[in-house]
Amino acid sequence: MKFPAILLPLLLFFLCFWRSESQTPFLDGGGAWEVLQQSIGISAMHMQLMPNDKVVMFDRTDFGSSNISLPSGQCRTDPHQEALTHDCSAHSVEYTIATNSIRPLTIQTDTWCSSGSLDRNGQLIQTGGFRDGDRVVRTISSCDACDWTEYPENLAVRRWYATDLILPDGRIIIVGGRRQYNYEFYPQQNPNLFELGFLRETSDQDENNLYPFLHLLPDGTLFIFTNTRAVLFDYNGNRVLRELPAIPGGEPRNYPSSGSSVLLPLTLTGEAGQETDPEILLCGGAPFGSFDKAVQGEFLEASSTCGRIRPMDPQAQWAMETMPMGRVMGDMLLLPNGEVLIINGAGNGTAGWEFGRNPVKTPVIYSPSLPLGQRFQVLNPSSTPRLYHSTATVIPDGRVLVGGSNPHTLYQFYNQEFPTDLSLEAFLPPYLSMQHLTRRPRIVSSYTQPLSYAQPTEVMYFLADPLPMGEITVRLLAPSFTTHSFGMNQRLLTLKVAGEVVQLSLFTYRVTVLAPPNPNIAPPGYYMMFVVHSGVPSAGVWVQMQ
Ligand SMILES: *[C@@H]1O[C@H](CO)[C@@H](O)[C@H](O)[C@H]1NC(C)=O
Ligand SMILES: *[C@@H]1O[C@H](CO)[C@@H](O)[C@H](O)[C@H]1NC(C)=O
Repeated sequence: MKFPAILLPLLLFFLCFWRSESQTPFLDGGGAWEVLQQSIGISAMHMQLMPNDKVVMFDRTDFGSSNISLPSGQCRTDPHQEALTHDCSAHSVEYTIATNSIRPLTIQTDTWCSSGSLDRNGQLIQTGGFRDGDRVVRTISSCDACDWTEYPENLAVRRWYATDLILPDGRIIIVGGRRQYNYEFYPQQNPNLFELGFLRETSDQDENNLYPFLHLLPDGTLFIFTNTRAVLFDYNGNRVLRELPAIPGGEPRNYPSSGSSVLLPLTLTGEAGQETDPEILLCGGAPFGSFDKAVQGEFLEASSTCGRIRPMDPQAQWAMETMPMGRVMGDMLLLPNGEVLIINGAGNGTAGWEFGRNPVKTPVIYSPSLPLGQRFQVLNPSSTPRLYHSTATVIPDGRVLVGGSNPHTLYQFYNQEFPTDLSLEAFLPPYLSMQHLTRRPRIVSSYTQPLSYAQPTEVMYFLADPLPMGEITVRLLAPSFTTHSFGMNQRLLTLKVAGEVVQLSLFTYRVTVLAPPNPNIAPPGYYMMFVVHSGVPSAGVWVQMQ
């Protein structure tokens, strides 16, 4: 076959252009891995991508000296330290994507097994933790020199292993936590503590009701899943509206038998972009009793099932599917092209230090819209085990940051089968492969003003595809607060396209989409906007919904 000579310089041009956006060019359809940092100084137990393309990460303050110092020679005296009371090391860092660099941040109180959410202004509201940190609210804004501010005694009760979610009115709901069968709101209101008996009912011998899976549904109600059960919940009226069937199989899905869950992408195709039929996917976990067995040194095989349900359907039933391999402590992430990535975790054991065995280093992709039986694809493995306290999050260039794993009480870096891991990697999903080079759009619009609900919005993009164009979609992805295998606040919206794609010049196009119809569909705050062409996403640009 003759290669048209004209295409060669074009190809080289886009190769260079593409390389500057994304580091490792590869051809493999199974994705690629790159090690970004051997040590970021801490173990990335919690991660939040901020709207300034920096990622805030932290672990805990009471388990010894990390591998990075606090800024400007500070030290902390901490009577609760398990390992040392005078600690000059940092337990939080900020990672800058563009420069692949780290800056230490200052946290004074213990953030172990805490939670968080961005608020409507893109500020991280982080809640709870352990001991001196269990009622603390901490905030950090999205700016170049920002650091943490801590507000003690700001939660109604102690919150350890709770889940946070932003609501349509901009409040953040904080649900559960160890021996807390209740919820509260941030900012505080009066009264601010509400019973939730469902959390008590779903606590078993191993608990299995921690870090509840919360998803905001298009009618403004909450889907709450803990252990094996799910309810639809009205948080304003403090009542369970309906209980859904229990997931078949009896395997607990919430911490410590940690499975994970996502709200599948919402497609806003209906009148005014409003008609949606939400579906929830929940994958992995471990058999009932796994935690007790692990304490005794027996590591049961992880669950290999996923359940998928349409929660708003009055006849809702779980449809069960089987993953290519079992997985506990897997993270589920919504990718900008509408696929679900399942990454990190173990094939045996349960969540908790020392309790994971048989690391699963191969991510899998789940394609929700393919027929049953064709949805899973096994991808290329990492070289690093990512067990308990590992995390992953999607960043605007389409890569997935992966870090953490600290399977011991203290930082233990040497002479361990699974040492505390301080490294940071990126996984490049198959859509970043070079074979998709010319299919990859680039957004040229920028959005300095917030988008208004239901308003038409123009998106201009560059696309150098010499072949006829494939399907174009425009999507919004809300960044997650990831910890303990659950990405709080993740949601992906496929916007309604209004009219035709207009070609403006040789490689430039314009498409008009409708912004999400209301805050139940898209709570206020920052989203990454992607143009996706034939399954290949552009890099994301930030937009604020208001
Ligand atoms: C600690 O950081 C240094 C460089 O800053 C690195 O050489 C070393 O490997 C790190 N230690 C661990 C255990 O990661
Ligand atoms: C994982 O579980 C399987 C099935 O119970 C068992 O055969 C295997 O030995 C376990 N692996 C480890 C590392 O414990």
